[in-house]
Amino acid sequence: MLTRMLSPLQKPLKGELKVPGDKSISHRAVMFGAIAEGTTTVSGFLEGQDCLSTIACFKKLGITIERKNDEVKIEGKGFNGLQEPTEILDVGNSGTTTRLMMGILASSPFHSVVIGDESIARRPMDRVTNPLREMGAHIDGRENGRLTPISVRGGKTHAIDYISPVASAQVKSSILLAGLQSEGTTSVTEPHISRDHTERMLESFGVSLTREGTKVSLEGGQSLKGTHIQVPADISSAAFFLAAAAITPGSDVLLKDVGINPTRTGIIDVLLEMGADLSVENERSFNQEPVADLRIKHSNLKGIEIGGEIIPRLIDEIPIIALLATQAEGKMVIKDAEELKVKETNRIDAVVEQLQKIGASIEGTDDGMVIHGKSTLHGAEVDSLGDHRIGMTLAVASCIANGEIRLKREEAIAVSYPSFFEDLALLQN
Ligand code: S3P
Repeated sequence: MLTRMLSPLQKPLKGELKVPGDKSISHRAVMFGAIAEGTTTVSGFLEGQDCLSTIACFKKLGITIERKNDEVKIEGKGFNGLQEPTEILDVGNSGTTTRLMMGILASSPFHSVVIGDESIARRPMDRVTNPLREMGAHIDGRENGRLTPISVRGGKTHAIDYISPVASAQVKSSILLAGLQSEGTTSVTEPHISRDHTERMLESFGVSLTREGTKVSLEGGQSLKGTHIQVPADISSAAFFLAAAAITPGSDVLLKDVGINPTRTGIIDVLLEMGADLSVENERSFNQEPVADLRIKHSNLKGIEIGGEIIPRLIDEIPIIALLATQAEGKMVIKDAEELKVKETNRIDAVVEQLQKIGASIEGTDDGMVIHGKSTLHGAEVDSLGDHRIGMTLAVASCIANGEIRLKREEAIAVSYPSFFEDLALLQN
């Protein structure tokens, strides 16, 4: 367990930065490359622990994968090229690996066991094991398959028309992946649209699917063809620097090649509504994914209310939005975000407890939080609780806090952003 001392620099952030590749897209590039026919090459791959867990799992499933820094080559042999693993598939801290891979395993004719760290062991997997069972997979695990370790005996599956109670890209993607190998048309309908990287990337691999409102459907029996995927910079990682610049006086930062898929840009909408000086420049696309450069300068912010359809579009950014709100005038209300309770930590409790330690006026609610700004933040000992996004939120607080922040379990940040502190220091120079 490592503790990092973050001294109260209170220096403006200035300059240009390209944050690492998108986590969701990096996972999918490896998984889809593994079930595709032929070679897939990936550039801009995120070298975070979560995505390395995906590579390790698919190697155990018999796929040859070579990686040199952020360049990855995957030798896919089609769905039938996957082999029964002789070892346990360890997903580490990664919910995306767990849930998407289970969709692939459900329709693969062999037995496998999926395990993860102590955070994964607490997270609900019945949201995928139940529909995958409905499709015909044999799944068992603790609490009847709600918790890992989970064993999957896959095989012949059939299509379902699934109405998901949650807006979750992991659930949607898991079912669609099983559906690719199932007889008939598989559909998933969500209460609100969740991130659609699976849909876009499957199209890049030659799969056809249809979308109608929040319903996605695909025909089983389609094969994927190996391709090249260029991964945009992760807007969820960029969000920490957008926030840092927005709240630190004198800042002016340009973040390059950031993915601006509309199912992920809730953070941009929120920053603009709060009064941030933010512009979206140089719009273009990588594969089927829109990208842009984001320029942000410090400005005065005001609290707003967020809830409903925007929540899945910024679910991973809520910890850093809470910090932003501590520096905004007035009241900020975040609601309809009960999904936060089943992330790497219970992020309602984690954000409230840790930000209170440094002087924030914040209370948790059943489905979100309420923050009163603007507060002067002070130094204290805080804890990432093993959650990368809580760790980065607390590190960004050090840009404006008036005392030293001692961040316990800083190593958690490597899950999605191994070079986070180097990049922060680069902008502070
Ligand atoms: C992800 C989907 C989201 C998100 C997670 C990555 C994905 O989770 O929080 O960090 O890559 O599909 P849910 O699908 O559970 O909302």
